[in-house]
Amino acid sequence: MTTLYEGAFAKLNLTLDVLGKREDGYHDLKSVMQTISLRDDIEIDVDTGKPWELICDKPGIPTDETNLAWKAARVYLDALGKEPDGLTIRITKRIPSQAGLGGGSADAAAVLRALNRHYGEPLSIGALAELGAKIGSDVPFCTICGTAVAEGRGERLRRLPDMPDCVFVVCMPDFSVSTPELYRKLDEKVIAKRPNHMAMESAILSGDLGKVAENIYNVFDPVVTEEHLELNYIKSICNSYGSLAQQMTGSGSAVFAILPSFEYAAVVCGMLKDNYPQVFIAKPV
Ligand code: C5P
Repeated sequence: MTTLYEGAFAKLNLTLDVLGKREDGYHDLKSVMQTISLRDDIEIDVDTGKPWELICDKPGIPTDETNLAWKAARVYLDALGKEPDGLTIRITKRIPSQAGLGGGSADAAAVLRALNRHYGEPLSIGALAELGAKIGSDVPFCTICGTAVAEGRGERLRRLPDMPDCVFVVCMPDFSVSTPELYRKLDEKVIAKRPNHMAMESAILSGDLGKVAENIYNVFDPVVTEEHLELNYIKSICNSYGSLAQQMTGSGSAVFAILPSFEYAAVVCGMLKDNYPQVFIAKPV
């Protein structure tokens, strides 16, 4: 038996625009995505001699073939025509679920990377990301990590240089949002404001954190805030204590703030901790 270890890193959407509904029911989107240091840990025992098993330290996470990490192992092994003699996947969860942080996708991507390494890297990172698209919209980005523009359903990726150094505070409110329902709500609305991707890309290219902050925007944010004014409360605390920008990530409901230093982030984190048990400080990676 061999044990593989891999980190599964959360993502933030610095920008997120929904361009329109497609014939297959999904939506075309455009997003500047960023990997952050908030992570789950994945361990995989290969050749256990036992039936497949998934173990997660956090209750409420599916531990059967519906878990994206399990699906990723199945998709990878089928693509390569391999069948180990049993597999056990252990997940140590830190990334909140149903948060817009891509937790399940990050776990799936980590499984893809770990298995690919185990089998001698037969697939390039690009081919691995393509395989990831079969598992979920965020899996391709979570496979390549870093800073990138995602288009299509999230499978068309273009790498950007690293974003300027900063510290993120990520806060999970005590409600979550159904992603399909949110897309449906957005379909019924006229999107009044959209992110400026040209401006965000040039801010990243020139390493200007102030300009990056100015261009943070997610079209889902006002739709969720409308029903959950609590997001405004979280944002106002971030804003009062030095945050350069604050916004919901993905389809929510987690909010992230950009701080210029760890000291500022620690203060914001301290202010939110009393009301929100799931507050994290993270760096771009
Ligand atoms: O692919 P993923 O499982 O993350 O998507 C969850 C749901 O969100 C989909 O079933 C779909 O309803 C919606 N979605 C969409 N367009 C996208 C991504 C997700 O409509 N680009």
